[in-house]
Amino acid sequence: MKEVVVSGIRSTGKLHLGNYFGAVKNFLQLQEDFDSYFFIADYHSLTTHPNPTDLQGSGKRVLAEYIALGLDPEKCSIYFQSDVPETAELYLFLTMNAYLGELERVASFKEKARTQPNNINAGLLNYPILMAADILLHKGVKVPVGKDQAQHLEMARTFANRFNRLYNCNYFPEPQAFSFDGILIKVPGLSGAGKMSKSTGDADAIYLDDEATHLEKKIMRAVSDSGAMGMNTPKSQAVQNLFDLMALVCDPDVILQFDNDHKAGTIRYGDLKKQLAADMEIFIAPLRDKIQTILANEKHLNEIAKYGAEKARISAQKTLREVREIIGFRTN
Ligand code: ADP
Ligand code: TRP
Repeated sequence: MKEVVVSGIRSTGKLHLGNYFGAVKNFLQLQEDFDSYFFIADYHSLTTHPNPTDLQGSGKRVLAEYIALGLDPEKCSIYFQSDVPETAELYLFLTMNAYLGELERVASFKEKARTQPNNINAGLLNYPILMAADILLHKGVKVPVGKDQAQHLEMARTFANRFNRLYNCNYFPEPQAFSFDGILIKVPGLSGAGKMSKSTGDADAIYLDDEATHLEKKIMRAVSDSGAMGMNTPKSQAVQNLFDLMALVCDPDVILQFDNDHKAGTIRYGDLKKQLAADMEIFIAPLRDKIQTILANEKHLNEIAKYGAEKARISAQKTLREVREIIGFRTN
């Protein structure tokens, strides 16, 4: 039997470069050889209270982007989380074995509680339980995600093991965060601070459908150093971020040249950003066009979603049947 791969992306906006290199790039390779489930995490996105139009629009967009990037509905199961309600039932079961203290200690929860003190809802607290349900629903073992999800994966292992111990069985396998090169990646944003994210705003993120002029403007405005540099001055965080972005899309020889210029103290950040903008446009242009074409074909997208949900529900229903039996519910 093939190993099972599961991963999802929240439908709270458009996909950005971090989503691509942290997650989708690995999806593309994994769909070739594994039993893969890739979903749009629209239940998860409810923590931010989208209105129905936005919920639908952004979900459809992520689906179109999945397809444009090369996910193949015949090679993997592509579905909306909300089309597989078994997810919610497994989530309910897992909540009974998750403890308040451990949930409150999760870094992403603490961060949300700090940044949005007026909306610390129970869904945010339980976020890692729902994520564990997504994965365990298909008995997933490989979970392609970026570095920011490592702690959530640890929680998923905790919940899987706890279930097995409580019911004295060996039912759920231990899911592991996965990337092909073995390193979980963190793509930085353009603001010189943390990771690129949907929530940090348009100036910080590079979206996979950014128009050429907009893309160039954003990159030219990215934070870098201003003053003259001495020889062998270590790179500031903002400059390191720009080099990290270059590593994703630029030729290694070009990067080496800028690196040498930095060491020599002769680097011109305007030139570096121009190069980055040009190479980024080469990377983004074909994706942007494909996304637009696929988005326009609503009928095709609906068919893909329906087909994906049907495939995912076969595995989900099997798991829920077995889990209900293990827990001790009446079986028919
Ligand atoms: P966002 O953080 O923008 O809201 P999601 O939380 O929906 O995006 O993340 C979806 C996937 O993309 C996850 O696997 C996550 O680890 C990955 N990801 C998101 N941002 C980055 C980033 N800056 N670098 C690497 N991976 C990322
Ligand atoms: N929590 C993930 C993120 O924000 C998205 C996600 C939801 C996910 N459920 C998942 C990722 C299951 C992998 C597996 O990035």
